[in-house]
Amino acid sequence: MTTRPYVIDQLISAKSIAARVEALAQEIHDEFEGTDKLVVVGLLRGSFVFIADLVRELDLPVEVDFLEASSYGNSTESSREVRILKDLRGEIHNRDVLVVEDIVDTGHTLTQVVKLLAAKGPARLKTIALLDKPSRREVDIRADWTGFEIPDEFVVGYGIDFAQRNRNLDHIGKVRFTDEG
Ligand code: IMP
Ligand code: MG
Repeated sequence: MTTRPYVIDQLISAKSIAARVEALAQEIHDEFEGTDKLVVVGLLRGSFVFIADLVRELDLPVEVDFLEASSYGNSTESSREVRILKDLRGEIHNRDVLVVEDIVDTGHTLTQVVKLLAAKGPARLKTIALLDKPSRREVDIRADWTGFEIPDEFVVGYGIDFAQRNRNLDHIGKVRFTDEG
């Protein structure tokens, strides 16, 4: 828990996010059109706002499920393990699955989650991330759809937190500490 003072500078407006989510939903619709069973899996907790907006723009029959994973181990290790804190409630075997992540940073979380879910034998397994920080990547992975590529900044809002704060901002902002320089 930080005690350093900071302000939040807007990086992506609520309006830009809404427009992007609408466009992404159209692409996902085109990919999964005809499915009778899309399972949209949100990675807790950061994706909760994104998944809520995304499924409401998606004109397809969907089931919503959640997975909470936490990476552990030294961040300098090339293959970090991911621990499942909350597993899926439903079955994904032979089903179409869309994993919804907030940010792909080093790429470890998405890589491990995809590996775990692929082992359950889904018919199709696709991924979407609202944000991508390509400059931070340690594992070669990309989500099938990305909302916005962003620079190496610590961001908050639209579900994403800094020490559990600021998830309820309607836009994406970057954290700027005010006690330096
Ligand atoms: P990765 O395994 O390094 O790709 O970790 C991705 C996870 O790290 C995301 O799901 C976020 O929970 C967290 N994360 C990465 N960058 C940020 C950020 O700028 N703000 C808040 N959380 C972040
Ligand atoms: Mg996360």
